[in-house]
Amino acid sequence: MKIIGIESSCDETGVALVETRDDAPPRLLAEALHSQAAMHEAYGGVVPELASRDHIRRVLPLARRVLVEAGCALAEVDVVAYTRGPGLAGALLVGAGVAVALGAALARPTLGVHHLEGHLLSPFLADDAPAFPFVALLVSGGHSQLMRVESVGRYELLGETIDDAAGEAFDKSAKLLGLGYPGGPALARLAEAGDPAAFALPRPLLHSGKLDFSFAGLKTAVATQLRKLGPAPDAQARSDLAASTQAAIVDVLVAKSLRALRETGARRLVVAGGVGANALLRARLDAGAAKQGARVHYPPFALCTDNGAMIALAAAMRLQAGMADLRSDGAFDVRPRWPLAELAAPPLLQRPLP
Ligand code: KG4
Ligand code: ZN
Repeated sequence: MKIIGIESSCDETGVALVETRDDAPPRLLAEALHSQAAMHEAYGGVVPELASRDHIRRVLPLARRVLVEAGCALAEVDVVAYTRGPGLAGALLVGAGVAVALGAALARPTLGVHHLEGHLLSPFLADDAPAFPFVALLVSGGHSQLMRVESVGRYELLGETIDDAAGEAFDKSAKLLGLGYPGGPALARLAEAGDPAAFALPRPLLHSGKLDFSFAGLKTAVATQLRKLGPAPDAQARSDLAASTQAAIVDVLVAKSLRALRETGARRLVVAGGVGANALLRARLDAGAAKQGARVHYPPFALCTDNGAMIALAAAMRLQAGMADLRSDGAFDVRPRWPLAELAAPPLLQRPLP
């Protein structure tokens, strides 16, 4: 079965084609991505209206490219999957509208996918895919969550941020430091030449005994330190502050992830979402988990941030698990706010393929 996946929840348009054969792991046949980061950079963040308009321009050419690359005719597509939420409403509507139109034209069912389910299953596209069950650390621009993942569709929320997401903490601190958007990779680069112990920044909730996060206080602390440095801090001071900020975020993420492994007795940690591309986070998690006899799994590096492959993959894994809520009635909705835990609640109706 061939499944095309369309991602348009934020500022990346992604399309991918995945194939399933019996119970074998889904195989990625081709994928294409367009990042709008350069377009939004001038505004210091994502402008929703511009994002929607750009998705409209990109999605069909990307879909064509994927089909050509995979040597697959449009008529060979069996299921059209798209990101149903969470994300920007207008941006989601573009992907959903195109997917449902494509499904209607091909007389094929559609499947709305949860964006975070895409992220947390994305390590299954790596060579050393994890086995269930595992703990997942989801760290993106909009979310910071620890989940216990029993199997496809069975997710238990262990802890989440009570204010800013980890990626948001990177982005907002980077903005204060005068770096471009998205701030995470830029801040990580600036931090390379810095001393992580130069500034004492808070590690909120580090010793709370719980698995929740809080990052809002960190940007205030960064702003305070910057004010103290005066209007023109030298290059070393900026690098030191970037390194100290990164260390504070990573310290908290690592401590909570290792605690989640201990509390659940899980031996595998899956890291997904844009912040999972952070090299310091990866190194610290690898070392910490190894000490506890656990392993860390990541998606392929290029699939840490938003992409169509994870949406097609999540759809494929749901289909294989018999948990796909396929639709063929031409109706659709999007869920800009959609708690992942809701996915697990009621058993989903399994509708047979037409
Ligand atoms: O998963 P993602 O692409 O989009 C959302 O669904 O939010 O995550 C984007 C986030 C941004 O906040 C970005 O700054 C952060 O991931 N990010 C990083 C790195 N690469 C991306 N943060 C820290 N270090 C990185 N290397
Ligand atoms: Zn994402």
